[in-house]
Amino acid sequence: TKFNASSETRPLVHLTPNKGWMNDPNGLFFDSETSVWHAYYQYNPKDSLWGLPLYWGHATSEDLTVWEDHGEAIAPQDDESGAFSGSIVVDTNNTSGFFNDSIKPAQRVVALYTEHNATSESQYAAYSLDGGFTFEYYEQNPVLDVGSDQFRDPKVFWHEETERWVMTLVLAQEYKIQIYTSENLKDWELQSNFSHHGILGYQYECPGMAKVPVERDAPLNVTSNGKTNLTTQDDGAEYKWVMFLSINPGSPTGGSVNQYFIGDFDGKTFTPQDGATRIVDHGKDFYALQTFTNAPNGDTIGLAWASNWDYCAFVPTEAWRGSMSLARNFTIRPYNPNPQTTELNLYSAPILNSSDLETKRYLKKTSLEIGADEALKYNLGKDAQGLLEFTITWKVNSSSIPSVGDFADLSFWFTGKEDDDEYLRLGYAVNAAAFFVDRGNTDVDFVNENPFFNNRQSQNIETYKIGADGLPIYKVHGIIDRNVIELFFNDGSSTSTNLFFLSDGNYIGGVEITAGVEGVYTILDFEIKQLARK
Ligand code: FRU
Repeated sequence: TKFNASSETRPLVHLTPNKGWMNDPNGLFFDSETSVWHAYYQYNPKDSLWGLPLYWGHATSEDLTVWEDHGEAIAPQDDESGAFSGSIVVDTNNTSGFFNDSIKPAQRVVALYTEHNATSESQYAAYSLDGGFTFEYYEQNPVLDVGSDQFRDPKVFWHEETERWVMTLVLAQEYKIQIYTSENLKDWELQSNFSHHGILGYQYECPGMAKVPVERDAPLNVTSNGKTNLTTQDDGAEYKWVMFLSINPGSPTGGSVNQYFIGDFDGKTFTPQDGATRIVDHGKDFYALQTFTNAPNGDTIGLAWASNWDYCAFVPTEAWRGSMSLARNFTIRPYNPNPQTTELNLYSAPILNSSDLETKRYLKKTSLEIGADEALKYNLGKDAQGLLEFTITWKVNSSSIPSVGDFADLSFWFTGKEDDDEYLRLGYAVNAAAFFVDRGNTDVDFVNENPFFNNRQSQNIETYKIGADGLPIYKVHGIIDRNVIELFFNDGSSTSTNLFFLSDGNYIGGVEITAGVEGVYTILDFEIKQLARK
């Protein structure tokens, strides 16, 4: 079966290009003058495949949920080049001298990105005199060139404490994140290298540092016998610096992965709090995460590219190819990966909130006991548009599993509205203490034939809470948008983003709940909303 991505199959609340190819998010910033969010992206307008010349595409949103695509914004120097990934800062005080008083401080937009060609990667500056819609190229580009052809993806931010611009970028194949500083966005001075950390893979890409607020008072997930004192280095600060880093190929999960390090930053050097590498999202389709410049209230909000270099060129959408994740709000919270450790961890919360959305159907069930031979079926209606949001909280009574040899799953079968032989299966199995996603029950050839598009994945999830009866409780919040699903476990301590493809127009329109064993699972709360664009 062919999956033919027309307007009928395009995700409703995930940013996609009107036509052509999309990869990494670039230049994310919030314009506080107009209250508009701007997102740029790696863009090939001429083909729905990656290729040179590569541009920055541009989209805007008022709510980070519904996007309007505007097409090309930044062009490469010639047809054999690419305007590769980079970032935007708002040069409020005109440190660059690119602006005059006619440009409002909140709209002094400067892009720093990589100009790539066959022999070199160097950093270019471009500035906008119309709030980010069109750009002028700095006459004295490049602003940074070290004679390398693997030197890219500058992410720049203003470091208040030292009153300097800070840039992180990679010497991709030397496994170095380099940290540079500048007073004017034009002259850059090397301060330090953050080198050989994390999973290395083939190369480093798209680094980025952000100040992430610490929610110290957030409730701990394990309350019974959990340690409440932080076991990781913790100075009681109100925020932590997080270094994000993408690697591709070479992820242990196959292809592309986004990792992060929690630590401190003095304006010159990033110091991780411990030796751990943490993974931002455990799904297959979450890469090149970038955070927004100037998000209100000091929030740290990011977008990632929802695909994987292992198979992105073959994903069966044709007029356009590639989408972003939902925007996520990041915080750092103490959490318990297990009962004996409490440490700081990144939490992600999806942003899905728009006056352009309406709830078509809403269902809420509490205290559902599931027997081994029954299926609880809920129909979301023939008018389902493929956009769903759900939250499930369940309790596990593992003492009632008759034998360790029983496959004790709790499964949620999200079925196609036209043909319920096609489905997406999610679930938890107490034997593994893990959650699984099966995206392979479809007639779409790509899914069945592409060996890199793993149909089945799993991830560890820790206990969310211990109930009054001493039994562990788990929670998942999910958003399904036509051909992409994002899962947020336990209020966002871990996440999983995955593409999936059912046949054209066979949007998810129902859900069936089953259990492999008797008496083990109680669904404490199950809520599902069928949403649509107005
Ligand atoms: C990451 C990446 C970047 C590069 C861009 C090119 O996905 O390879 O390193 O700037 O894509 O499109």
